[in-house]
Amino acid sequence: MHVEKSKITLGVNIDHIAVLREARKINDPDPLMALAVCAQNGADQITIHLREDRRHIHDEDAQRIIDASPLPVNLECSIDPAIIDIVCSLRPHRATLVPEKREEVTTEGGLDVSGQFESILNAINKLNAHEIEVSLFIDPTIEAVETSERLGAQWIELHTGSYANLYAMRHSALPHSHHAIESLRLPRHELDERIQKAYGDIVDSANLGRSLGLKVAAGHGLNYQNITSIVTIDTIEELNIGQSIIARSVFTGLATAVRDMKKLCQR
Ligand code: PXP
Repeated sequence: MHVEKSKITLGVNIDHIAVLREARKINDPDPLMALAVCAQNGADQITIHLREDRRHIHDEDAQRIIDASPLPVNLECSIDPAIIDIVCSLRPHRATLVPEKREEVTTEGGLDVSGQFESILNAINKLNAHEIEVSLFIDPTIEAVETSERLGAQWIELHTGSYANLYAMRHSALPHSHHAIESLRLPRHELDERIQKAYGDIVDSANLGRSLGLKVAAGHGLNYQNITSIVTIDTIEELNIGQSIIARSVFTGLATAVRDMKKLCQR
């Protein structure tokens, strides 16, 4: 499939700034302060997640960020009708619907678009009626992409977590990383095959999504190393990246961390 080469846009997920704040439950660091730094250093979008348990971003954060952001704001949220009502009143540029379990550390797995078809459809219709475009965070499978198109979403965001986990198992030398421990159980050639398969699933899903008229984003677990092969997938228009950028910013400052990631987004 031939697609014109184009710039891949970068959404910076700033939730982890609020995670640090919540460690002390004070006002510092304020995620609002990240907006100008991200905008001045190449970010194209700000992403935040208003979780049902409000464990990091609060409603007031979301309101202040949406009101003040010089960049479009992509608000991740569950399909719970009460949350959708709040998101409709917050009026972000985009809502990305994600599955949510209270006990998870971060979003695990994509939406069950077939099993929750009606609830997701209701959420999409309501958000679209409030002029908020909708993205569905899905696993990179043919069925999930086709169902997302039937649901009438404007975007899909392909979950890159499996690819990122396998990549970390293969390449991480960190002794405390659980990836490194798990990798001991798998021979390298098997890990390489699994990475290729996970990567191929992302390529196939992105190509199918684009051919069905969907805009295609990707994210979760992407970092300064594993991003390079994802960027070469021409049918992916946007990446949403949080943890690795905020982690690097501890040592380099946020401006450099965003700029470095943006450089890797050129293709
Ligand atoms: N996209 C979605 C839908 C997410 O839920 C997350 C994690 O909040 C991300 C992207 C960013 O993931 P990471 O923090 O691992 O870069």
